[in-house]
Amino acid sequence: MKFSLIEDLQCPACGTRYPADVIQTVCLVESCRSSLFASYDLPLSLNPEALFAGRPSTMWRYHEFLPVTDPAHIVTLGEGFTPILPLKNLRFEDNENEIIWKDESGNPTGSFKARGISAAVSKAKELGITDIVTPTAGNAGGALAAYCAQGGLNAYVYMPKLTPKVFKDECRLYGAQLIEVDGNISDCGKLAEKDAIANGWFQVSTLKEPYRLEGKKTMGYEIAEQFNWELPDVIFYPTGGGTGLIGIWKAFDEMEKLGWIGSKRPRMVTVQSMSCDGITQAFHNKELSSQFVDHGFTIANGLRVPKPYADKLILKVLRESAGTAISITDERMESALKEIARKEGMLIAPEGAALWEAYKSLKTSGWIRPGEKILLLNTGNGYKYLENITI
Ligand SMILES: Cc1ncc(COP(=O)(O)O)c(C=O)c1O
Ligand SMILES: [Zn+2]
Repeated sequence: MKFSLIEDLQCPACGTRYPADVIQTVCLVESCRSSLFASYDLPLSLNPEALFAGRPSTMWRYHEFLPVTDPAHIVTLGEGFTPILPLKNLRFEDNENEIIWKDESGNPTGSFKARGISAAVSKAKELGITDIVTPTAGNAGGALAAYCAQGGLNAYVYMPKLTPKVFKDECRLYGAQLIEVDGNISDCGKLAEKDAIANGWFQVSTLKEPYRLEGKKTMGYEIAEQFNWELPDVIFYPTGGGTGLIGIWKAFDEMEKLGWIGSKRPRMVTVQSMSCDGITQAFHNKELSSQFVDHGFTIANGLRVPKPYADKLILKVLRESAGTAISITDERMESALKEIARKEGMLIAPEGAALWEAYKSLKTSGWIRPGEKILLLNTGNGYKYLENITI
């Protein structure tokens, strides 16, 4: 069997196909411009237990369903295969649900961004790219800097000035060129694009490049494998650009085609910051796309994405999964972060802490039913956010 079973790229909006052995960005159809999805040959004959037995505990154990065709091009720092940790001491009402964290904080550079960036940098290397640029709310920039250092590529990172210092320092330490921007991630994106065009750098902005999605998708494969191919009932996901949400959903689709899971799916829940909740508003207003919404700083830096590029795809996943969307204030995130640290011994990112509050709200409203199995995806490490927290 081939190392990667990738066939080509397909536009999920208009169906146009593109070859995967040359550089691609988004759909080239003028009226479309959707993000592109990698598509794979998905044979029914594979037994996952036999296939993955003895493989390393990283996301590259799923290499047949990742885009890199030659293992020599993989740039890895040991990302993925993160633990699932049942809640032990946190209490809410009668604890009528089994609640499990998937804890991404132990990834290289402290967040789940390592997965997407490992895939994107590896594929970029395979395609001969030497210079990569990204706008970032913090974590993706650090990851890009680290993986480019490991892979011998040049990294350019555009980050809002109003980001904790550690996110900036790590970029510089990994040898990236850091550009601090007076504004939010949308402003970073505009500047990054201008400089990318002027200098011939390759842009890996969220969902404007096809392969970060593939790396994030491995969370879906892991959830299935770690839950013995029986998916949880509900997955809570802190949504900025939405790559993880869309990626996990794509993984479920692929695994159904492989015959590893049935058609039953978890209900997917987008959790946003009250300061930047365009997806929540659009979902509840039954719209197909979101408006630009930005009410300023939030302690969950990764959730300050005023208008995700793939808003339509995020909303589609929420509807297809019979999921929902909910926004949480900074005050609630901060108190949840402290409660989780005290009770569970986990110092998680505010983005992850927001999920515990979202669970409480949806349990109180009856949207979560007794007995349902809940997965909370803690996307990052709280140590990087201490500047945002009053101790
Ligand atoms: C810790 C953390 N959680 C969640 C997100 C949002 O991720 P996505 O843009 O894939 O929705 C980010 C993005 O920066 C992040 O850093
Ligand atoms: Zn298209």
